[in-house]
Order: sequence, then C-alpha cells, then structure tokens
Amino acid sequence: MNPGTTAATDTSAASFGSPSAAAAVGVERTVTVRIKRQPTPDTAPFWEEFAVPLRPNMNVISLLQYIAAHPTTTEGKATSTPVWDSACLEEVCGACTMLINGKTRQACSALVEKVSPDLSPITLEPMTKFPVIRDLFVDRSRLFNDLKRVKAWVPVDGTYDLGPGPAVSQKLQETRYPLSRCISCGCCLEACPQYTPTNKFVGAAVISQARLFNEDPIGSALKDERLEALMDEGGVQDCGKAGNCVEVCPKQIPLLESESAKSIPRKEHPAKSR
Ligand code: SF4
Ligand code: SF4
Ligand code: FES
Repeated sequence: MNPGTTAATDTSAASFGSPSAAAAVGVERTVTVRIKRQPTPDTAPFWEEFAVPLRPNMNVISLLQYIAAHPTTTEGKATSTPVWDSACLEEVCGACTMLINGKTRQACSALVEKVSPDLSPITLEPMTKFPVIRDLFVDRSRLFNDLKRVKAWVPVDGTYDLGPGPAVSQKLQETRYPLSRCISCGCCLEACPQYTPTNKFVGAAVISQARLFNEDPIGSALKDERLEALMDEGGVQDCGKAGNCVEVCPKQIPLLESESAKSIPRKEHPAKSR
C-alpha cells in the first residue's frame, strides 16, 4: 500500500489523475503532509503530520490552507495553525519559497500531482539559509539588504520629467530581459554552498541584479559603486561557480553568465594595469 494514502482510502481503481474514478467508488483519498514546525525562532524544531483529502489540481498552498482550517495531526492531536508566507500565488513574489521534499521551490507552483505522483508523503521545511520567523516562514531581509548594498536600481528620483530615456537596442533588451525575471525568492541562495547563514556572500541573485542595472543606460551611472560593493567582502570573488544556483532558479536566469568576469567588471589589479 502506498504509505501516503490511508488504509481506508487506498484503492488501485482510482488513479491520482482521475479523481472522478475515486469518487465513483465512494472513497476519499488523502495525502500525508509532514511539516517541520518551529513556533518561535527559539523553539527546537519538531515534525507534525497531517492527512489532507485530495482535490483535483491541488498545490502545496492548498494543502496548507486545508491544514490551517483543520489543524489536527494524524495522531488526532489538536495543534496550532502552521504558518507560511505567500502573496501572489502565481510564482511572482517569491514569498512562498520553502523546501518541498527537500528541494527549494515555490509552494504556489508545486502541484501535488507533480510533487508526489505516487502519493507518497510530502515534506515541507523552511529554507535553511535564512532565519526562521515561524514554521515555514523565513526572514529574507538579508537578500533585500544585499540588493541595497549593490544599489540594484535605476537612479531616478522623480523630481522632474526625464523624458523617454535612451533607446535600448534589441540585443541589449534580450540580454537584460531574462535577468529582470528574478523574483527574489532565495532558491539560488538556499542551494549555494558558498552562501551560509553567517557569512557575507551576497549570492547569485544580487550579482545578477547588479549586472541587470549596470547594463541599463541610466542605471550604469552607479556602475562604479556597484563594483565597489561586489569587490568588497562577500562579493563576486566568493562564488565557486559550481552552478547549483542555475539548477534551482525557477526563472531559468543565466546566473553563471552574471558571475563571469566579463559581465561584472573587476578592478584592474595595480600590477596588471602597469
Ligand atoms: S555558482 Fe555556485 S557558488 Fe556561485 S552563486 Fe551559484 S551556487 Fe553559489
Ligand atoms: S536568481 Fe532565480 S533563484 Fe535566485 S532569487 Fe532570483 S529568481 Fe530566485
Ligand atoms: S505566493 Fe508568490 S511566489 Fe508563491
């Protein structure tokens, strides 16, 4: 029997892809969800398990919503409502990023039928590189502070109308567009062996955003300041270029290009510039 389905509901007649078949034989199928709980940052983490009745096209957020409405574990113990972060529900804000079956990704775009096609239990854990606020909700402030560190913006103060701005070639648009798709989710940081909770490495997303704004005709005005930040402790030299970040980026951003010497100009070593 599949460990993810309850004895009362296990049936070979009802495949996951055809919920009507399950309904036809009058059974309710469930999926087991194991959640790493940590009610406060100082509490030692522990696991709780919940059984969630399946509905067609469920995603991990809808599993959590069911559990929030029915916070009783599979052992019958009433518990607190698990806490997670989310906003857009369409893989745009990055807030719902967590470890799903050990892989960092967004809960809103994680369909149950893809995450667990055989209905084996689904595990949910908070990302490990950021401080836990509560349960699956982590504090990604470091990422946003590092974006400030490299001035990842176009310096326009809005005090007067600058007009339409310089034309941007098609080629440059095609280079910059993939970089602009970053949702600051933190997947690349979670997967990066060089990014730890205690060091200062800015990580792939921030390096890539520096490149995005360096290559903007107006944003390039801050190129030198970005360079200073990226040459400082925790800058681009800390990248080992193994590419874990590229593997997990939900927006397929060419992060290794941004980490290459060509994309981020480096200061000439005095000995070399002679
Ligand atoms: S290439 Fe490797 S070391 Fe560099 S940011 Fe990506 S995962 Fe981290
Ligand atoms: S670069 Fe990709 S993985 Fe990293 S924060 Fe942006 S979207 Fe997420
Ligand atoms: S809720 Fe915004 S990415 Fe999932």
